[in-house]
Amino acid sequence: MLAGDHGPVLERMLRLLVRLGDIYGADKMIPVGSVQVAGVSYKSIGDPGLEFLEDYANQGAKVKILTFLNPAGMDLENWAVMGIPKEFAEKQLRIIEAFKKMGIIISATCTPYLAGNLPRFREHIAWSESSAVSFANSVIGARTNREGGPSALAAALCGITPNYGLHLDDNRKPNVIIEVDDSVKLEYISDFGALGYYVGSQVKNKIPYYTGIKHADVNHLKALGAAMAASGAVALYYIKELTPEANNMPITSLEKLSVDNKALQDTFSKLTTGTDPDIVIIGCPHASLAELSNIAKELEGKKLKKPLWVCTSRVVKHTADEMGISKTIETAGGKVIADTCMVVAPIEDIGYRTTAVNSGKAANYLPGFCKQHVIFDNIKNLINRVIE
Ligand code: F3S
Repeated sequence: MLAGDHGPVLERMLRLLVRLGDIYGADKMIPVGSVQVAGVSYKSIGDPGLEFLEDYANQGAKVKILTFLNPAGMDLENWAVMGIPKEFAEKQLRIIEAFKKMGIIISATCTPYLAGNLPRFREHIAWSESSAVSFANSVIGARTNREGGPSALAAALCGITPNYGLHLDDNRKPNVIIEVDDSVKLEYISDFGALGYYVGSQVKNKIPYYTGIKHADVNHLKALGAAMAASGAVALYYIKELTPEANNMPITSLEKLSVDNKALQDTFSKLTTGTDPDIVIIGCPHASLAELSNIAKELEGKKLKKPLWVCTSRVVKHTADEMGISKTIETAGGKVIADTCMVVAPIEDIGYRTTAVNSGKAANYLPGFCKQHVIFDNIKNLINRVIE
C-alpha cells in the first residue's frame, strides 16, 4: 500500500496512519474490528470536506471493514420537517452519497452500539465520536483511541490502526478516584450528565475511577461518558462494581476528588443560561428505545405548546415507529428525528435561540456551536415546561 501498488488513496491514507504511529511511538499496526467515522455534518466539514470526500469516493476508495457514520446535519429522510435550508440539504446529501460509495453504512449515529455495531470485550476498534469512544472503552471494554475524522477514515480504508494509547493495557489504568458522596442523588439521566460535566472539567484527560455510584443503566452511562468527554477529554472511566474491568484495576495511592450534591446543583445552574425555551431537544447521545418509550409515557394524552424533538438513530426510530412509540410522541406534537442532533444540525439557522436539554454534553456545546441559550434540567421538568 505504501509503495502505491493499491492506488494513491490508500497510499496517502496509510502514510497518515504511519505518521500517527511514529508520533505516538506505536510498535506496529493492529487490525480493527470496526470503525466509526466522524466529520459527517455539512455544518462541521463544509465545502472543503465535501470535496475531499467526493474526490476519494470517485477514485474508488472502499472500506475494508464494518464502518459506521456519526450523525449528519439533518434527518436524511425528513429534513424538510426540521426546517433545514434546501442548499444545506443538497450538500449534506452529497456527503452521504460519497460515504455510501465508499461502502460505509449510513448509520449516522453517535450510539453505534445501540444500532447494530456492538464491539466485543477487548476488541480493537477505531471510533471517532467522543461519547461513543468513552462508552466503547468503559462500558463495553473494547479498545479505541479517539480518532479524528481523517484517521478513522484511514483505518476504515486500510483495515488497521497504529498500536498506541488506549490500545495498550498499560495506558488504561485509572489515575484519579472520584468519590461520589451520599448527598448526590443520581435519579435522572441529566444528573449523570451534570456529574460527568463536573468531573470532566476537573480531571481533564485523566482516567477516573468512580466509587459511590450504586446503580446506573446504559442511558445513565452514555450520558455520564458524553459529558466527561465534552467538558474534559475523558475517553475511559471505571465505576466500582459496575463497569467490566473496574474490579481488576489498581487504585491504592491515587489522588482523590470528592463530589457532593452542591457541585451537581452548581453545574445545573452554571449551564443554564436561558429562561424560556423555544424548543426542547432530547437525545444527546442519541436516545435509546427505552428513553423514547419513557418520553412517550410522559407525553401520553398531553399536548405540547412548544416544539420537542427526540434525536435518535434511524435503526432505533424504525423500532419506535413499529411499536407505536413515535406515534404517541407525534400525537402530543413532538418529533422523532433520526440521523442528526441538536449540535450538528444548523438549529440557529432554523431560528431557535433558546434550547432546553437534559444532556450535559449538549448543554456544554450549544452556546458555542449553535449560539443558543440553554436550559439544562431533567426530562420531567423539561416536559412540564412545554405542555399545555
Ligand atoms: Fe451525539 Fe450530537 Fe450529542 S453527535 S453525543 S447527540 S452532540
